[in-house]
Amino acid sequence: MPHPRVGIADLSIATTHYMIDHATLARHHGVDVAKYHRGIGQDAMSVPAPDEDIVTLAAAAAAPVLERHGTSALRTVLLATETGVDQSKAAGLYLHPLLRLPHTTRVVELKQACYAATAGLQFAAGLIARDPAHQVLVIATDIARYDTGTPAEATQGAASAAILVTADPGIAELESVTGVHSSHVMDFWRPNHRTTPVVDGKLSITTYLDATAHAYADYRRHGGRDLDDFAAFCYHQPFTAMAYKAHRHLLGTHGQAPSHDDLDTALAASTHYNRAVGNSYTASLYLALASLLDHRDELGGRHVGMLSYGSGCVAEFFCATVVPGYRDHLRATAHDHAVTARKPLAYDDYRSLHEFRIPADAGRHNVPEHTAGAFRLAAVEGHERIYETR
Ligand code: HMG
Repeated sequence: MPHPRVGIADLSIATTHYMIDHATLARHHGVDVAKYHRGIGQDAMSVPAPDEDIVTLAAAAAAPVLERHGTSALRTVLLATETGVDQSKAAGLYLHPLLRLPHTTRVVELKQACYAATAGLQFAAGLIARDPAHQVLVIATDIARYDTGTPAEATQGAASAAILVTADPGIAELESVTGVHSSHVMDFWRPNHRTTPVVDGKLSITTYLDATAHAYADYRRHGGRDLDDFAAFCYHQPFTAMAYKAHRHLLGTHGQAPSHDDLDTALAASTHYNRAVGNSYTASLYLALASLLDHRDELGGRHVGMLSYGSGCVAEFFCATVVPGYRDHLRATAHDHAVTARKPLAYDDYRSLHEFRIPADAGRHNVPEHTAGAFRLAAVEGHERIYETR
């Protein structure tokens, strides 16, 4: 039986209620703002309100997708995160009442640092190859929070991406050839007892670069496309300058020395959302794809090279071929609104939110109402998270 065409039928992103810009951060940290704007390629970062978490972000990204496509063919929800709210229960199950998910849906949570949503995408493609009538919702949702006063602080952020994977997709086809690389490296991890990760920033960068080259080499060994076949590239963007570093490195391993303009042509359109949102871990690569599709000139029929990286580490290189007519399925206005509607925070308010924690005892803890969106975390009572739909 021939394999069906499988890929992305819808892509919707969401981010937080608040943001802080890097000019404010630079002023308070006594840092030259050019280090943030040019050095790491960041303008601002999303900051979650007390009544936002990975579940409310996931619901906000997924609701418009389900509104457009319905749920009658939805058989699986794969939620990828490294900001889990429970060690046992899948965060996707909280979406049942918020999104009225059908009970005939398989729901599971996936974890491998920033890489897990890509695993979800590949698993989804496998399920649809088995039954092309099946639709899979992959949700990437994360909050990147680092200790204040560390070099990583300026690379915080938060966002979600909901990706509907189907046969005969309207946005992008996922080619079945992929290249993978994994190894045991301690560049970034978050032990169970910590709310912020342990990170070796410099090691994480060299590990990302090595993994990129290895994943692409594996992709080629499996019959993947030549670098010149791609009209654009999307990289995991912990900060947007990382995409430039990685692409320069990849081309360098193939004897090319790209100019900054060459890199801009391949990458710049993919960086708009992440420049403003910061690191969104699992969602970052899919914010890059949304940004590329929403901002680049016509890409119908063209190939996009996708590089997913998760510390620890796993990398995967794959190709998304943009489907002619894809623009009819995009959500550029809603995405732009999600980014521009965020409320700017004064520095002291950012610091207070950074320290905010819901007490860990079994009492009832109402969560202060900050947000205005459709979904919020209203309280935690008896260790149970209680969400509200407006
Ligand atoms: P740092 O050490 O403060 O920064 O932290 P730096 O001194 O290396 O400077 C950064 C860049 O700014 C450099 O550019 C400087 O030259 C430049 P580069 O040399 O790299 O091209 N710079 C300036 N440019 C213009 N004007 C100036 C100026 N000053 C300096 N005045 C670091 C940087 C990334 C290490 C830190 O932010 C960090 O630890 N971040 C967290 C880890 C991280 O994001 N790693 C990325 C790869 S790993 C990954 O992507 C996985 C991850 O998402 C987690 C997961 O998988 O779950 C993190």
